[in-house]
Amino acid sequence: MVIIMLGAPGTGKGTVASLLQKKLEIKQISTGDIFRKNIKEGTELGIIAKEYISEGKLVPDDITIKIIEDRLNESDVQNGAILDGFPRTIKQAEELDRILASKGKKVNKVINLTTPDEEIIERIVNRRICSNQECKKIYNLILNPPKQEGICDKCGSELIKRKDDTEEIVRERLKTYFEQTSPLIQYYEKQGNMLTEIVSKTINRLGIDVAEDVVQILKGEK
Ligand code: AP5
Ligand code: MG
Repeated sequence: MVIIMLGAPGTGKGTVASLLQKKLEIKQISTGDIFRKNIKEGTELGIIAKEYISEGKLVPDDITIKIIEDRLNESDVQNGAILDGFPRTIKQAEELDRILASKGKKVNKVINLTTPDEEIIERIVNRRICSNQECKKIYNLILNPPKQEGICDKCGSELIKRKDDTEEIVRERLKTYFEQTSPLIQYYEKQGNMLTEIVSKTINRLGIDVAEDVVQILKGEK
């Protein structure tokens, strides 16, 4: 099963994908995480990606598509994947369809998460993530702070703030989303497998309700 988590920055793609990964026993693939890992390790890809990410722009399609194509060829994702943050352009969506078709697969479900812009900014400036690459647990200093300041509850590693999590860069990321990624809603609507979720802190327990809804939808119970 191939699931796409679509949505603007801060709508909870990573939070929900991580919950779904456990519930559905299929791997989450986050292009943002792949880029951040490469930036941390100082690889050639990391050096290129950093230029774009620090300005809230998309990493070029040819680079991003190659990364996903390689990742989708790995053995641990042959039973499916939850794509978190890919595709983000029409070109990426078309190439994904091609890659999956060559394996006799297709996109099974697209989850579109939406949150009002002002709430997105509040969420993002208050986000902290676990620095341990194996853990990467996501926190929110207001809604789900760690028990001990600056330390991950789950693995004890240091919590860090992403460099692109400033209000100025988030506004750029939102602009990029509306210009280049939001046309994907129509792209998938046309394919007939589009799903829209409204995310709000007043009705959702940090993505738990959304993840439960998705599981029910996949089972055809909702
Ligand atoms: P990426 O890492 O994917 O960032 P993003 O799309 O900006 O999304 P975020 O990770 O910021 O938010 P999220 O939706 O995962 O929310 P989260 O669950 O963390 O990409 C980073 C950059 O890499 C891009 O800008 C681009 O440059 C590049 N890139 C990546 N993919 C690319 C591609 N395909 N093509 C080209 N370039 C690409 O939640 C956010 C916060 O809200 C957390 O604090 C969380 O605790 C909280 N929260 C979550 N759910 C809820 C809820 N229901 N209620 C209240 N709070 C909540
Ligand atoms: Mg994310």
